[in-house]
Amino acid sequence: MSGGHTLATEIEGLVGECESLLGQASSFEALEALRVEFLGRKGRLAAVMSRLPGLEPEERRQAGAAANKVKDTLGALYLKRQDALARQAETAMLAAFDATLPGRAPAAGSLHPITIVTGEICTVFRELGFDVVTGPEIETDFYNFEALNFPPEHPARDMQDTLYITDATLLRTHTSPLQIRTLESTAPPVAAVAPGKVYRRDSDLTHSPMFHQIEGFLVDREVSMADLRGVLTYFLHAIFGRDTRVRFRPSFFPFTEPSAEADISCVICAGSGHAGTDTCRVCKGTGWVEILGCGMIDPNVLAAVNLDPEEYSGFAFGLGVERVAMLKYGIGDLRLFFENDVRFLAQFA
Ligand code: PHE
Repeated sequence: MSGGHTLATEIEGLVGECESLLGQASSFEALEALRVEFLGRKGRLAAVMSRLPGLEPEERRQAGAAANKVKDTLGALYLKRQDALARQAETAMLAAFDATLPGRAPAAGSLHPITIVTGEICTVFRELGFDVVTGPEIETDFYNFEALNFPPEHPARDMQDTLYITDATLLRTHTSPLQIRTLESTAPPVAAVAPGKVYRRDSDLTHSPMFHQIEGFLVDREVSMADLRGVLTYFLHAIFGRDTRVRFRPSFFPFTEPSAEADISCVICAGSGHAGTDTCRVCKGTGWVEILGCGMIDPNVLAAVNLDPEEYSGFAFGLGVERVAMLKYGIGDLRLFFENDVRFLAQFA
């Protein structure tokens, strides 16, 4: 008949040839090579189609229709083979993978002992109705010293003791600025604890330039030293156990009057002062260890936050969290808290 018919036949023949080659293509690379060979811009189909313009109209129509059909068919065959290869690869991967192997357990971390003890202390006070408040570690002289009744020449203000940032700003040396900040913004009755980092120019075996304190204070009408003793004794029993004895000794702080320090019976030797035949090293044989500073808020401090000392009174206390943690867990070296050796930390999991 005609060359057009021949060409259409030739075109249709590409399907069978390509299909059998695709069946043998065992990699994505081989598959891609076949796509280029048959369907590429200079491929076999393109080569046949380049002969179309020389044909009679009827033949051209037939051959063109055949070419379009073959193009679609080859495209579909190509995608089918690609899909099969992808599934083969996945099956091979799953076969190489032992689904019965036990998983690797993620290593569970633990809270740092300072975080644990801070949480326990705040919980005791929250249960008594205290709020938990926080404030900036970079403070001004006013909040850290002046409003707390430190005289201008007080030694704590010295460059030797305090880490200054500028003439006007410093790293807070205690959490007591939270007394001022809280009382400035909240009218009595106020009861709050304020945990946080504090900084001092001090570093040796028993002193760290950064450590943690918790401040506590309660201001209302008719607050007395009896309230201070009752609350702090309850708190110390909650943390160290009901058998712990508590005593208050007179002391001095610029921001409290009268001031005291609270001692607890030594938790290491149970107040006996000795360990076997030796002297207890923690209480140095006294049977007591100092645990916090406290007192009735000085009238000058109340005045600094515009409270009338004739109308309001309050108590305040401050304690070192590292010290509480050392006594509670029997930790002998302050540096362990800052080295973050996981063998130490994992014991608190
Ligand atoms: N701010 C004191 C200190 O850092 C502790 C303290 C707080 C004492 C509140 C009395 C009342 O040592």
